[in-house]
Amino acid sequence: MLTDLLQHNRRWATGKLLEDPDYFKRLSALQRPEYLWIGCSDSRVPANVITGLEPGEVFVHRNVANLVHRGDLNLLSVLEFAVESLGVGHIIVCGHYGCGGVRAAMDGHRHGIIDHWLQPIRDVADDRSSELETIHDTETRLNRLCELSIEAQVAGLARTPIIQSAWKRGKKLSIHGWVYGLNDGLLRDLDCRRSGCSCGEAGAGFAAEACNGND
Ligand code: CO
Repeated sequence: MLTDLLQHNRRWATGKLLEDPDYFKRLSALQRPEYLWIGCSDSRVPANVITGLEPGEVFVHRNVANLVHRGDLNLLSVLEFAVESLGVGHIIVCGHYGCGGVRAAMDGHRHGIIDHWLQPIRDVADDRSSELETIHDTETRLNRLCELSIEAQVAGLARTPIIQSAWKRGKKLSIHGWVYGLNDGLLRDLDCRRSGCSCGEAGAGFAAEACNGND
């Protein structure tokens, strides 16, 4: 019931004020999140809840299957604001096992506009077909594709002019690929981090992957 949501909200706001009378006054004046989260729209993967972050602590962009389309003005606007104005130090691309978007990309059926949105997943599947074809269990293969797609989105983000120019200016900024398990509620780091070099040289189109100094 919608009225339940509104009642819950009143109880939550009252509780916050009891804990800290300046809570909303402080939050409304400033947000200074350290993280940008790019995740799947799936209702079971809410960024703040699974990471234990409070309001004000994570800037969030979500879309179906956590994809980074080069021409997505929504994502690029979020990215630019997060990097240039908020000054986040970490970007987390978080996908999840059992992603319906990844499954829909590969099931061979026509779903509508979403098929165009999901094209990058099929591109990753084509690029990595030799590995994926060795996995005979469908669920396991799709879960591996979830991981590969996350890694591809991290690499794609690293190549955007927004990130490249931030690194060239010497900004400490890392991009991480994580995957979430719906079955166990756990996040796993896929170890595909991209970081700008602390010397300020991000390279001509590629992140300095060897630089691991800015956690
Ligand atoms: Co999903």
